[in-house]
Amino acid sequence: MKGVILAGGLATRLRPLTLVTNKHLLPIYNKPMIFYPLEAMQKAGIKEVLLTTSGDHAGHFANLLKAGEDFGMKLYHAVQQNPKGGIADAIALAEEFAQNEPILVLLGDNIFNFNLLAARQKFEAVGHGAMVFGVHKDTQSKQYGVIEVDQGGKVVSIEEKPEHPKSDIAQTGIYMYDAKAFQYIKKLSPSGRGELEVTDLNNYYLEAGELLCEIIDWWIDAGTSYDELLHANQQVAQMVKEGKL
Ligand code: DAU
Repeated sequence: MKGVILAGGLATRLRPLTLVTNKHLLPIYNKPMIFYPLEAMQKAGIKEVLLTTSGDHAGHFANLLKAGEDFGMKLYHAVQQNPKGGIADAIALAEEFAQNEPILVLLGDNIFNFNLLAARQKFEAVGHGAMVFGVHKDTQSKQYGVIEVDQGGKVVSIEEKPEHPKSDIAQTGIYMYDAKAFQYIKKLSPSGRGELEVTDLNNYYLEAGELLCEIIDWWIDAGTSYDELLHANQQVAQMVKEGKL
């Protein structure tokens, strides 16, 4: 399995913090934000990772992370031409890199302490389809995709930031896909906010009966507002001091 970390976007909601740098280079407690998904890849045993960023800050990532030596991996860099093209648009950049292998995709502003190795092994044993990861959260805030599951844990629906959430399970920015993802992405059209949505991609797998879901305990999206960024710093500091991260 190969890894893909998305660190594009414009982060306009965090200006002026993001006027001359990329959101994923901002500090979260004692490290740049981008270190957290890189370490999660490392813990999952992923040895080759593609990092997608916007052109204006690609050099900063290359200076900081080089070819991935410090994380025990080979790190490749790609530039997303339209930094707001959407998560699925950024994933599409990995088609050649993936070489038909399954991929683990992580959003660059997501922080969690769940070790993905067991889930990766489960996904690889199944050998096809996709896996999403949910977490119990306040889904009324309209910040997240919302996953509805039945009593057996099977996904019933996924909706992107719905007005009336059907469950309290937020879709995290952790995804596993087989090579069909790239064919599905080619069929996607931009959503109301002009992006190729990861939720639409996941719904292709759901319709095909090939979508698995795992629920994790602790996860934060560090990058949507000043308050979330502050909260992420506080929570991570506490988790690190308690030896939980
Ligand atoms: O964080 C979890 C949520 O992430 C999910 O619950 C939603 O279903 C999913 O759509 C996504 O929603 P957001 O609106 O929070 O995504 P955002 O635009 O904040 O982008 C998330 C990350 O992806 C961020 O680290 C930047 C990166 N990104 C985003 C876009 C739109 C890119 O690399 N390229 C892009 O074009």
